[in-house]
Amino acid sequence: MNGFEFSAPGRIVFGNGTGLESLPEIRKWSERILLVTGSDVSRAGWLLDGLDSLGATIAIHSQAHEPTVEDCGEVLRIARAFGAGAVVALGGGSAIDLGKAVAALAPHTEDPMDHLEVVGKGLPLPGPGLPCAAIPTTAGTGAEATRNSVLAADEVKVSLRSPHLLPRLAVIDPFLAIGLPKDQTGWTGLDALTQLLEPLTSRFANPISDGFCREGIVRSVRSLPVALLDGMDIEARSDLALASLLSGLALANSRLGVVHGLAAPIGGLFAAPHGAVCARLLPLAWKANVAALQRENHPGLDKYRDAARLLTGQSTATLDDGLAVIQKLSNLVGTPGLAHWGMIESDIPGLCERASKASSMKGNPIELDEGALADILQEAL
Ligand SMILES: [Fe+2]
Repeated sequence: MNGFEFSAPGRIVFGNGTGLESLPEIRKWSERILLVTGSDVSRAGWLLDGLDSLGATIAIHSQAHEPTVEDCGEVLRIARAFGAGAVVALGGGSAIDLGKAVAALAPHTEDPMDHLEVVGKGLPLPGPGLPCAAIPTTAGTGAEATRNSVLAADEVKVSLRSPHLLPRLAVIDPFLAIGLPKDQTGWTGLDALTQLLEPLTSRFANPISDGFCREGIVRSVRSLPVALLDGMDIEARSDLALASLLSGLALANSRLGVVHGLAAPIGGLFAAPHGAVCARLLPLAWKANVAALQRENHPGLDKYRDAARLLTGQSTATLDDGLAVIQKLSNLVGTPGLAHWGMIESDIPGLCERASKASSMKGNPIELDEGALADILQEAL
C-alpha cells in the first residue's frame, strides 16, 4: 500500500439547524465578521439576524458570479479596512472559495497574485489566516472541505492552495438547500457525483477517501432523482449534502481526473456553470477512460468495476451497467451540449492543450493524449 496523508477542516458539523447553532461559536472568534455570500443576500437573513443578536458587527460582500483574482483583491481590501477578525462564507462554491481565499490572505498580503499558482508567484502562505466558517447552501462543490480556492484569471481558472485554506469550521445544514432550483440541484449534484467517482478512480486514491467515495456515490445515486422530483424532500437533501461534503474531503486528498481537467479551461473561457459542464462530460470521460484502461488491461479497471457496482447496487454489474446509470442521471438532470455555452469546434485544440496541463488531470488513472481529449469535447459539443 502506498503512503498517504489526509487533511480536513478543523471541525465538521452536520445536520438540520446546525447553521443557526454554529453562530455563538463564530461570534466567539471575533466581534467584527466579514460575510461573503451569494447574489441573493436575503438568503443570509437568518445569519445576519443571529450574529447581530449576539452583538457582532458585520460587513457583507455579495458575490454574484465565480470569483476572479480582482474580486479577491477587492474583498481583501474591504476585509482589511473593516478590520475583520473572522470570515463567514455562506453560499455555493463561488462564495465559499472567495471567503476562504480572503480569510487565508487577509493577515499576509494585499495582492492575491503573490500566492496564486500558474499566473502568480506561487509563494506559500507563511501562516494561518483569519478563522473561517464555510456554510454551503448548495450540495455540489464540497468547497467547505478543500484546501484550495478557485479564482478566474485571464481566461483560466487557477487555485490558491495551502493547508491554511481549510476552514476552521464547516457547517453542513441540509435545510439550507431547500428551495434550490431544479437545474442547480441537478448540476451541483452531478458535480458532487463526479467528485466522488474521480477520486475513487484516481491514481492518488487512498483507503480513507475510497470509503468516503463509496458512501457518497450510493447516497448520490439514490437521492438525486428524488430531490429533482421534490426539492422539499429533506432526507434526499441530506443525502446530497453529505455526498457533497464527502466529495470535497475525497478530492482534497486524492485529487480528480479528466472531467475536472477539461472543466477548468472550459470554465475559464465560457460562462458555463461548472456542474453543467461536469454533467455533460462525465459519461464521455467514463467511456474514454475505460477504453484506454482496457487497451492496457490496466489494474485501474478494478476501481471502475467497483464504481459500477456502487452506481447500480448490483454485485454483478458490468462497466456498461455503471455507464448506463451515469448516462441516465445526466439525461435526467438535463445537460445541454457545450455549444450552448458558446464553445465552437475551433476552441477544442486550445482547450485540450490547457486541459493536459491542468492540475486536476494529474489524478486521472491513465494518461489520455490530446486526441482522446479532443474526441471527448467533440462529442460534448
Ligand atoms: Fe467540481
